[in-house]
Amino acid sequence: MKLTNNEVLITGGTSGIGLALAIELSKRGNKVVVIGRNNDRLAAVQAEHPEILTFQGDVADRQSLVVLQEWLPNNLPNLNIIINSAGIMKPHNLLDPDLDLDELLSDIHINLVGTITVDKLFLPQLIRQKEAMIVNISSGLAYLSSAPHPTYSASKAGVQMFTSALRDQLAYAHKDNVHVMELVPPLVAETNLENVTASNSFSNMDLNDLINVAIKGMEQNKHRVNAGAAKMLRKMRNTAADRTEAMMAKESLKLYFPEGL
Ligand SMILES: NC(=O)c1ccc[n+]([C@@H]2O[C@H](COP(=O)([O-])OP(=O)(O)OC[C@H]3O[C@@H](n4cnc5c(N)ncnc54)[C@H](OP(=O)(O)O)[C@@H]3O)[C@@H](O)[C@H]2O)c1
Repeated sequence: MKLTNNEVLITGGTSGIGLALAIELSKRGNKVVVIGRNNDRLAAVQAEHPEILTFQGDVADRQSLVVLQEWLPNNLPNLNIIINSAGIMKPHNLLDPDLDLDELLSDIHINLVGTITVDKLFLPQLIRQKEAMIVNISSGLAYLSSAPHPTYSASKAGVQMFTSALRDQLAYAHKDNVHVMELVPPLVAETNLENVTASNSFSNMDLNDLINVAIKGMEQNKHRVNAGAAKMLRKMRNTAADRTEAMMAKESLKLYFPEGL
């Protein structure tokens, strides 16, 4: 897809990956709106990048997205690209009796439910365009679970599954004008997401490099872009999954067919 003269909505566009994509796409001559919850961050984007429009909203709050739906036609009447970058990543101690359930589920509500809701609400608008694109940002932790972040990994695996299903349904319905890309970043330290692991990790990817890879993927209508170390995580998942499947197959075959096949 040609990345000029598009109208782009970026959730979580006030920081990190979302903001870097907003700046890059705006530079390339696209009209960009970013969404975030925090007013100070929105004001900072407005001050530093007056060409980028901002909207105060929460992707986990349905009412907030309904207000966005009403606001958008006057600001992006021909919206044709959505990038779901809004996300949080929190460690949770599942054995802590005081662990708040809402806190535990917030990763799911923002990362997964938020992404699904935004895609579903704006899909009819995208389908009407000559060419359109949805970019859902998952994570290398969609491939391998991060034990300290149980609901983060679960949310990102969910984003991965949902993104594939969305692409398949559009293909089945011959809506070839809407491309669906999953961006799978590895650790990127220069964001506000989580600094504990990212800053110390060998598999950390430079934010600029990630943006270049993401933009190239969008231009080439890629289905999934495994950036940097996410490729390795994908391979590791495949190897471990194969071993587990082989073990399960042996046991279940013995159970069902004790005399052999
Ligand atoms: N950085 C990494 O290592 C990494 C690796 C793999 C995947 N990712 C994924 O990449 C995406 C971007 O992460 P990042 O590293 O750029 O994080 P970031 O710097 O913390 O940016 C997150 C953005 O999402 C917004 N946001 C959070 N909750 C929101 C909500 N409920 N509604 C609307 N906006 C919300 C934040 O603004 P407010 O807080 O003001 O709302 C901020 O603009 C996330 O989905 C993350 O899971 C990141």
